[in-house]
Amino acid sequence: MRAGVVTPGQKDSARLIEMDMPAISGGQVLVRLLELGIDGTDMEINRGEYGETPPDDDFIVLGHEALGQIENPGTTELGKGDFVVPMVRRPDDCVDCQRGQLDMCLKGNYQECGIKGAHGFLREYLAEDAGFLVPVPEELRNIAVLAEPTSIATKGIKRAIEFHNRSANPINIAVVLGAGPLGLLATALLKLHDYDTYTLDIVPRSSVKAQLVESIGANYVDGNESPVVSLPHKIGNLDLIMEATGNSTVAFQAMSALGTNGILCLMGVSTGQKPLEVDASCLNMQMVLGNKTVFGTVSSNRSHFERSVESLASIEEKWPGWLSRLITRRLTLDKFRDGLDPDPDNIKTVIELT
Ligand code: BGC
Ligand code: ZN
Repeated sequence: MRAGVVTPGQKDSARLIEMDMPAISGGQVLVRLLELGIDGTDMEINRGEYGETPPDDDFIVLGHEALGQIENPGTTELGKGDFVVPMVRRPDDCVDCQRGQLDMCLKGNYQECGIKGAHGFLREYLAEDAGFLVPVPEELRNIAVLAEPTSIATKGIKRAIEFHNRSANPINIAVVLGAGPLGLLATALLKLHDYDTYTLDIVPRSSVKAQLVESIGANYVDGNESPVVSLPHKIGNLDLIMEATGNSTVAFQAMSALGTNGILCLMGVSTGQKPLEVDASCLNMQMVLGNKTVFGTVSSNRSHFERSVESLASIEEKWPGWLSRLITRRLTLDKFRDGLDPDPDNIKTVIELT
């Protein structure tokens, strides 16, 4: 079978190779992979800035956002033809991993398919334990490849709401920083909660991203005109900010823009170094006197994937066709390298694996 691989640490090493067909054993099923979503992490890995090979190989199969269909259910209760989304993390032996909370891994010896120590899903077939496959209804087939990034935003928002629960004042104003796939998915999830939502990016108002934001009742903010620090004066107390740019400077600006009892959820991975001068005293004072919370979130466990699939169904029901508009480019497997070049006009690139 064909697979798209990279050599971590080496710039622009993405290439197509032939690999043996995987064989299933024990409680495994054979999955025919159908679609693979490319994200910023894949681009970082191909730039040589991130990623780690599996112990016995000098390359890693890329890709962690996937949709597949069961080819052979083995001895499991899954059925041939069922649609599934594979989870990204594989646990180590820490207590959190062992109780299914593998996104909270304590030891850090977990693996992430396509990212850290385990092959990913940019290939035609996958032999996988049923426990790492999340079923998706057939009606969601065209957009289920978005389940993984949606699970990240789902987990972040769930946690933020839990933090906020003690306040009698509900979350009124939510801000999303970045209108890439993760930011747009977060926007839709926040609108499902009916929050007054403002999504900021630096693309023009006439862009598809801005239109997608506005078409579900959220407000597009042009960050060139109104940077995040100006938002409290313009729109009021920022109760919740979801940071989805992965830009560490923006993350610090978001901290200072956060309102009373505000919660900032950091979702973006930033590689390299970026020194920044901040007024630490002022920031600390604001954080303390304002009861503010800043937290980071990474990966997602099975419950977040299941909730993500439910949310995708709700989004599709409420705004039919909106999710498929996020998929702005489809490439065949032999062209997957084109999907790793940043393209500001593009939102989500999906590789067709069949
Ligand atoms: C993936 C997560 C992963 C994180 C850090 C993200 O792109 O969506 O599943 O935990 O990268 O490696
Ligand atoms: Zn662990």
